[in-house]
This record gives sequence, structure tokens and C-alpha cells, in this order.
Amino acid sequence: MQRCGVALDSGSLSHDLTRLRSLDGVKWRKHGDDVLAAWVADMDLEPAPVVLDAIQAVIDRGDFGYNHVARDQLGEVFAERQHAKHGWSIDAGDVRLFCDVLHGIETMLWLMTKPGDGVVVLPPIYPPFRNSIMGTAGREIIECPLDRDGWRLNADTLESVITPRTKMLLMCNPHNPTGRVFSSEELTAVAEVCERHDLLVVSDEVWADLLHPGSVHLPFQPFAPTRTVTMSSASKSFSLAGLRCAVAHVAHDGVRAKLDELPTHVLGAVNTLGAEATLAGWLHGDPWLAATKKHLTAQRDHLASRLASEAPGVVWQVPEATYLAWLDVSAYDLGAEPSETLLTEGKVALSTGLTYGPGGESFVRMNVATSRPILDAVIDRTLGVLNRYAR
Ligand SMILES: Cc1ncc(COP(=O)(O)O)c(C=O)c1O
Repeated sequence: MQRCGVALDSGSLSHDLTRLRSLDGVKWRKHGDDVLAAWVADMDLEPAPVVLDAIQAVIDRGDFGYNHVARDQLGEVFAERQHAKHGWSIDAGDVRLFCDVLHGIETMLWLMTKPGDGVVVLPPIYPPFRNSIMGTAGREIIECPLDRDGWRLNADTLESVITPRTKMLLMCNPHNPTGRVFSSEELTAVAEVCERHDLLVVSDEVWADLLHPGSVHLPFQPFAPTRTVTMSSASKSFSLAGLRCAVAHVAHDGVRAKLDELPTHVLGAVNTLGAEATLAGWLHGDPWLAATKKHLTAQRDHLASRLASEAPGVVWQVPEATYLAWLDVSAYDLGAEPSETLLTEGKVALSTGLTYGPGGESFVRMNVATSRPILDAVIDRTLGVLNRYAR
């Protein structure tokens, strides 16, 4: 089979670009062939061989009929993995399946809030959270900005933004785009506020497998044992977003009751290839994941060292998790839409900070999950524009 991602030890920019431009994914399709893509959170790396083998085995058998074998193992395997990785003990019977993480989040919004209810987010925040709240008839976004100094969760800010109509906290930990991994103190304080105001907490932990050395992921549910829905999937760590398979651990009686009231097919179902790929990653993919994480940390560190020496005006906090870099470029005169200037003048596509909520205007988000030659080319193009516009 022809593989189209790039290898961890790739040495050639043109070889990598040829492979990536042959893919159908939005990352490399959205812009022209003269643009380097470092925006959407997809990795450019070749998929884990164990994942490809699992999918190939289904294809080789032509096993495309009704098939619940893989799907029925997901809850158990997720629970075992959480215990092994994070010491988090959960009942597999409380795990529900969704087609992707946002599917689960929008289901919670729809079932557990009403028009006019407020949902708290922690800006800067992954834009689909905002879109999901705004797209759920009449729900209101309540902004609880992270502290700018260190991107810390601030329970006093949370307390101050809650109104009687506030019903839910929608958070992600590790946090996209800042890469923060929240501490026990931060999570304890936030859980206390949620308890006091009877908020449902939807904790999106899809990045929990992608921590850099020195950080420890703490699942939120133990901090608020009866009011938390935890979303997860293998889509970030094993790059499976197109395969549509996610899990929700539902530690909230009201949510479980509402889900159980729904007609059997209204939420759709995980497909066989997504379930097989997820199981393969979770059960057999850890050696691949370890090598990938090592590469991602080296990419992060390489970006840090190049920014420090070549563009010290860029302000950022080195992420503790994710393969994303949230860069404040306000020291450069890039106009109202910095990512647009980088795209038109530098032919490099980073995510715009404008859609991440208040304060995002002067930021761009760079994805470093690619080969070293591509990362260097992305940095070269970005810094070329920045240094032309230094104030
Ligand atoms: C915090 C967060 N949640 C959810 C998603 C999307 O997950 P899915 O494709 O499973 O909906 C992403 C993708 O980058 C993300 O960063």
C-alpha cells in the first residue's frame, strides 16, 4: 500500500510535500500548492502500522456487514486504558459511544441546556466549542478567560461570570490552543465552583495522550464525581479524525437518563473501521505513540529555539501538551488579521486567532506535527513575514 504521510525521520522537503499534497484531507487541500499547511489539528505523520493493519484486515475479509464486535469492546478498553495511564477508575458501563467528540458535546448541549441558558468556555478556546454553543438554538456563550500569565484556570473569574442561567462548563484539558495541562489545585477550585452553582461539566480530554515530558494529565471526573461528562477519542493521538469514533464517560445520572430516553438510532453509530482503528491504537499503538510523542516534543523544542534566536518578539508559553503552538505576534505590524498576512505574503497557513474568542486577535496557532523539513520551511516563511513587519 502507498503510504502518504511523512516519516518521523524524513530528510526531504520535496518528498514530504509530494506525499502530503496527494492526500484528500482538508489540511493540504484548502490552499494552493504554493502554500505550506500548519493550521488544522491533523498530524502529517504516517499512521501507526497497527492501525493500518487493523483496517486492512477488515478490508481483506470484506467484512462490511452489521458488525458490533469492535464497537462493543470500546467502553471496556477505554476504561482499562484510563486506569493504566491515569489511575482513573471508571465503570465501563457508563461509557457511551459517539461519532466524534463534537457530536458528544453538541448532544450534551442539546439535551442538558435550554434556549437562554449560558455555557461557560475558557478562552482562548478551540473555535468549534463556540460554534457549537452558538449553533444550539439560543444558548449563550459565557466567557471565563484563562489568566494571561501562564494560561491558568481562575476559579474567581469563573465564579464572577456565572449567572442563574449558567448551566454548563465546557472545558478542554489539555487545553487547545494553549497546550496547558491544568493542575490539581486549578481543577479542585473549579470543581468547587461548579458544585456550588450546580453546573454540568463537559470535559473534553481528547488531547490527554499527547503530553510532553514533565506533565501529568488529571482527568476531571474525580474532582466532580457526579457532574462530569468526559469526552475522548483516538482521533488526535492516532490521527483518526476522519474515521469518526469517540467515547463519552457519563458520570451524571441526569445525562444518562436523557441519553437513555432517546430513540435507538437518533445518535447514529460508530462505524466498524473507526472502532477497529481506535481499538488497535489503544490496545497496541503505545510504542508508536511513544515514538511520535518524542518527535512532537523535539519539534516543539526546535520551534522554541528558533523563535528565541530569530524572532524574540513572538510571545508564547511553551505547551505542556498537544502539537500546537499559540503565538502572540502583536510585536509585529501584521494588520487586523495576522494569519491572513502570513498567508498572502508568506504562503504559510496558520490558524487565525480571531475565532478563539476575546483576546485571540493578535495570535496565530501553528501545528508542529509534521516532518522537520516541513516545520523548518513553515518557520522560515512565518519568520520571513514577521521580521519584515517588526514594529
Ligand atoms: C479540544 C478538541 N476537541 C475536539 C476536537 C475534534 O474532535 P472530533 O473530530 O472527534 O470531533 C478537537 C480537534 O482538534 C479538539 O482540539
